[in-house]
Amino acid sequence: MPWRKAWIDRSLHSEPSHDIKQTLNRRAYEVWVSEVMLQQTRVSTVIPYFNNWISKWPTVQDLASADHDEVLAAWKGLGYYSRATRLHEGAKAVVAKPSQSMPDEISELLQLPGIGQYTAGAISSIAFGRAEPVLDGNVARVLSRQLGLYIDVKDKKSSDMLWKVADQLIKEVSEHPEVEFSAIPGQWNQALMELGSTICTPRPKCEECPIQRTCRAYNEGLALSKAQQSA
Ligand code: ADE
Ligand code: SF4
Repeated sequence: MPWRKAWIDRSLHSEPSHDIKQTLNRRAYEVWVSEVMLQQTRVSTVIPYFNNWISKWPTVQDLASADHDEVLAAWKGLGYYSRATRLHEGAKAVVAKPSQSMPDEISELLQLPGIGQYTAGAISSIAFGRAEPVLDGNVARVLSRQLGLYIDVKDKKSSDMLWKVADQLIKEVSEHPEVEFSAIPGQWNQALMELGSTICTPRPKCEECPIQRTCRAYNEGLALSKAQQSA
C-alpha cells in the first residue's frame, strides 16, 4: 500500500489510542487558534502572539477556564477583538460537550461559536488529516486561474462553485495516491494557501510558479501573447 494511502487510512479509520487522541485534540486547538489569528493578520505578526497564547493556555480546557480580561489582554495589538471573544466562547462550548474534545467533523465544528466553513475545513484537514476543503481569497485565486475560469472570486455564486471545486479536488488528490498531485489533505490545503499568498498573488509571479504547466490562465495567456506576436 502506498504510504500516503496507509497514512490516510490510519488517521481516518483506526480507533486512536488515548495519547493520540490527546495529541490530535491539542493540534486541533492550535490550528484553531492560529487560523483565527491569521484571518486578518500577517504570519510574522501572529507568531509571537501565538506562542504567548499557547504557553498561557496550552489546551482548550485551559482556555475555557481562563479569565476573559486576560484573554483580551493576550490579544492586545492584534485587533478585531471579537475574534478573541469568539475563541473563548468556542473553547467553553468544546469543554461543555460530553467528550470535552475538539470535533473532527465539519458539521460538528460548524456548531461551535466562531467557527465557519474555512476554520472548520482547516481544523478537519490540518489537524485530523480529513479530506475537507478550505477556501480563502488566496485559494480561490489559485483555483480559478488554474482552471481558467475568469470569474470574480468575490462573487457569491463563484465562491459557492469554488468550494465545490476545492472539495472535489481534495477528495481526488487524497483518495487516489496514484495521481500526479496526490497529497495529504492538510498539506494540500496549506500549499494552496501559501502559493496564493506568495506566488499566485493578484499580480502573479508565474515564472516562479511550480504549477505553471497545469495552469490554464497562464497557458492561455501565453498562447494569446504568442498569437499577438505572429499577427
Ligand atoms: N494563511 C492562513 N492560514 C494558513 C496556513 N495554514 N498555511 C498557509 N497560509 C495560511
Ligand atoms: Fe498563478 Fe501564474 Fe501559477 Fe497560474 S502559473 S497558478 S496564474 S502563479
